[in-house]
Amino acid sequence: MFVNLLVLLIVLAITFFFGRLTYRAVKAQRMWVKILGGLGAGLLTLVFAAVSFFGIKKMMTVYSPSAASAPDLKVDSTPEQIARGEYIANIGCVGCHGVDHALPLAGGWNMAADEGFGFMGQVSTENLTPGGKLAGYTDGEIFRAIRHGVDKDGNLLLFMSMLPYRELSDDDIEAVIAYLRSLPAETSPAPTGDKLNFLGIAIMGSGMFPMPAPAADSIDAPPAGATPEYGKYVATFGECRGCHGPDVTGTPASSVAPAVPNPRPFVGTLTLEEFIQSFRTGIRPNGTAFSPAMPWQFASHMTDDDLAALYAYLTAEP
Ligand code: HEC
Ligand code: HEC
Repeated sequence: MFVNLLVLLIVLAITFFFGRLTYRAVKAQRMWVKILGGLGAGLLTLVFAAVSFFGIKKMMTVYSPSAASAPDLKVDSTPEQIARGEYIANIGCVGCHGVDHALPLAGGWNMAADEGFGFMGQVSTENLTPGGKLAGYTDGEIFRAIRHGVDKDGNLLLFMSMLPYRELSDDDIEAVIAYLRSLPAETSPAPTGDKLNFLGIAIMGSGMFPMPAPAADSIDAPPAGATPEYGKYVATFGECRGCHGPDVTGTPASSVAPAVPNPRPFVGTLTLEEFIQSFRTGIRPNGTAFSPAMPWQFASHMTDDDLAALYAYLTAEP
């Protein structure tokens, strides 16, 4: 935080410097200094002013404590909760929080470096086992981290806060907490957590990565069944919405990530049996495999009932 504040001061100083330069150029005697100097310095002033503005904007949301207080919560950790939490974690969390995308959930995967946005700083997944920082969290603070995307101190989690996991039901978040608490403590040799540099903060502040709407304090899952409503919920903990967009209709390419296709036209050509088979094997009915960019292995752990719900959702009107 302090380094970013320092950089902000420097960027503000540069803005001020170019601002003065613009003023002096415009006041100059010679016409060409007036025009070229005024335009050039004026443009630079605008650029640095914009960078400071977006940086300040995002720093305020990141470093000012969130309004939501952590709920007063003590998870019972029944065997059913632990089993449910394990089911969700193996489908939804292990792909990012697992070491090399597999158990244990010790984190340390620097997504920013791996996915080509390392110039924004470090975005490294957290150790979710009792060997990591969550050991110092109350159940309510872990609940708030997943639901509202803020850490123990109320600072915005820059990456987690953009994922759809905030829409997990209260019961499922509690189940995940029960499971995480039941794990053996692991340590991660790699650094964890996010440390965006000033440029990264300013890019986030420019709105290039839109934040999802704030989550409700209490959420119930829709009734389980092969319905589009429940299928959307499966797509939430199944991570589909994180990559394929909030309505699973695909996402366009951005300057830091390639496009992710709309899977619905393809799924519409499949029977339910073919759909389940494709997700169990990673092979489409025509014999072609999903590319490694499509992590079907995690969805392959889903029950037939959950895959049927997902199919109902993906074949209904988005
Ligand atoms: C697409 C990658 C991705 C997935 C999937 C993901 N996370 Fe995270 N998570 C991150 C990153 C990156 C961080 C590090 C902090 C940040 O950038 O937000 C993080 C941080 C966290 C934290 C730490 C909060 C803190 O206070 O520091 C918790 C708790 C967490 N995740 C829980 C989960 C759970 C539970 C799941 C599955 C339901 C999950 N995450 C799925 C990427 C992911
Ligand atoms: C980490 C990001 C990511 C996640 C998570 C993810 N997908 Fe994908 N998916 C992709 C990408 C990228 C492709 C395109 C791969 C390719 O070009 O072959 C793809 C392809 C597909 C396809 C094939 C589309 C076609 O036209 O052949 C289907 C179906 C699909 N995804 C469904 C899902 C479902 C359902 C989920 C959740 C269980 C999911 N995906 C989760 C990134 C993801």
